[in-house]
Amino acid sequence: MAILIVGGAGYIGSHNVRALWDAGRDVIVVDNLSTGHAQSLRDGVKLHMVDIRDEKSLDAVFGKEKIDAVLHFAALSLVGQSMIQPLDYMDNNVTGMIKLLTVMQKHGVDKIVFSSTAAVYGDAETIPIPETATLNPTNPYGESKLAMERIMRWASEAYGMRYAVLRYFNVAGAWEGGIIGEDHRPESHLVPIILQVALGKRPEIKIFGDDYPTKDGTCVRDYLHVMDLVDAHLLALEHLENGGDSFICNLGNGMGFTVQEMINAAREVTGHPIPAVSAARRSGDPAKLVASSQEAQRILGWHPQNDIRQIIESAWTWHKKHPNGYLD
Ligand code: UFG
Repeated sequence: MAILIVGGAGYIGSHNVRALWDAGRDVIVVDNLSTGHAQSLRDGVKLHMVDIRDEKSLDAVFGKEKIDAVLHFAALSLVGQSMIQPLDYMDNNVTGMIKLLTVMQKHGVDKIVFSSTAAVYGDAETIPIPETATLNPTNPYGESKLAMERIMRWASEAYGMRYAVLRYFNVAGAWEGGIIGEDHRPESHLVPIILQVALGKRPEIKIFGDDYPTKDGTCVRDYLHVMDLVDAHLLALEHLENGGDSFICNLGNGMGFTVQEMINAAREVTGHPIPAVSAARRSGDPAKLVASSQEAQRILGWHPQNDIRQIIESAWTWHKKHPNGYLD
């Protein structure tokens, strides 16, 4: 039986595809390639170029393949973009989830691991944020993921599906040796942008807001290595395959770093001065997001292994080898 990876050609999906393939699992990918890269997939992995909102085509994939469980990564995921295209985010993310669950139910597929986000919390009152914190997204991206979580919960109650909701904090880093990595077009994430400055592809990094109520005025985030995230997915899948109950958990390192601290760490790793300038706040950005990952430790026995330096070093290896991302 195969594992279907929806959005498997994207940054996080592709790292999971490779890890599952290397673990000897039968892996099938569905991706519309709107933001993903077919080159990120290992030879032998079967790719169906399908948009999950296209229920007929998705149904055909489920009809053709023997699917046991789904890992769902397909979503629009940029906070800033979601503020100006809210309806696109709702349509792509929420409609996509409804169609996916409809087809899963029709074909009797009852296990799903879902990529949710810290953005469901909005400006949290408690740091580190527990899963029980108030859910109050400050942007349409977070709102769409919260709606997806809730739709999945009701589908699970009605149809007996079991789910793992993994609320990621800020994911960065790359596969060992820089074989695959992060390549968004246009790039908007902090770590790749900092490293593009170090590569000479951008003159400077703009710091979005230096007047937040944090230790140096810049936003605090909890950065997690993509390979630690992959480990959590493998454990979550195993949990559901072993008959475990549905659950929701945060995934982060539990430590916050400011934008300024990330730039400083990248200066140390790359040896490049990485010029930085202050700019206006980016709308939709909460000041601080740091995870409590105690639930992931309790349910999955998951412990992240990599720190900020290892995250930046692995991303740096990828960017040096592929200065133009998957175009190289
Ligand atoms: N930032 C800058 N300059 C840049 C890019 C980013 O100062 O050029 C700042 C942002 O304002 C933010 C921090 O760096 O304070 C991190 O920004 P990212 O765009 O890298 O990440 P986000 O925190 O916006 O979002 C990411 C994922 C979301 C997820 C969220 C959860 O993209 O999917 O983490 O924390 F929901």
